Amino acid sequence: MGRTNSILSDMLIAIDGPAGAGKSTVARALAARLGLTYLDSGAMYRCVALAAIRSGTALDDADALAALARGLEIAPDADRALLDGEDVTEAIREPEVSAAASRVSVHQEVRDAMVERQRALLDSGGYVVEGRDIGTVVSPGAPLKIFLTASPAERARRRAAETDQPLERVRAAQASRDARDRRRQHGALRRAEDSTEIDTTGLAVDQVVDRIVAMARERGLVAR
Ligand code: DC
Repeated sequence: MGRTNSILSDMLIAIDGPAGAGKSTVARALAARLGLTYLDSGAMYRCVALAAIRSGTALDDADALAALARGLEIAPDADRALLDGEDVTEAIREPEVSAAASRVSVHQEVRDAMVERQRALLDSGGYVVEGRDIGTVVSPGAPLKIFLTASPAERARRRAAETDQPLERVRAAQASRDARDRRRQHGALRRAEDSTEIDTTGLAVDQVVDRIVAMARERGLVAR
């Protein structure tokens, strides 16, 4: 399937949802299909977490973390993540960094720093962005908002296959990250009222992408 041109210059598709719902795979494929740029906002929180671990910054010290976050050079490109010029694509996927990312992202001060950067990037338009708070906080005016879900068992199974870790361990880590994502006071994971929920359990990536492209067409966001 080729790229679809004639895209509105301020085109932005926000894809939120819990870990393992298929956000990354779907967002990447969707961006490729529509000729948009993919932005992984989670990679930015992961970069802050990695920098915190490396520098010995306490994960509960909001001010120190925010100062650290503001001083970092983070380039979350489509395929690689660069932190102060170093390729950290693999390093930020380590389980220790996943757990730390979940902890650093609870702080409003850290979120403010990240949201500011994300908005600056998105300002140029033409993005598919994935995260937890894109449709609710980062870009509430996005013309198309999707909330992806999948059953907890399916999400754990996907993550285990992706990371080569035992299913039970993934399931336990997922449950505690989910609880923290949903319960945190700031930028909590919740569905924007004007978003469309898609349950990806049992669906192929292309089926999900087709649905979203159809929605974008219906709304006149891409040429028919
Ligand atoms: O999507 P991910 O698993 O790579 O995200 C890593 C962590 O960052 C996860 O614990 C949730 C958090 N996150 C967030 O709070 N807000 C976002 N927009 C994206 C991710």
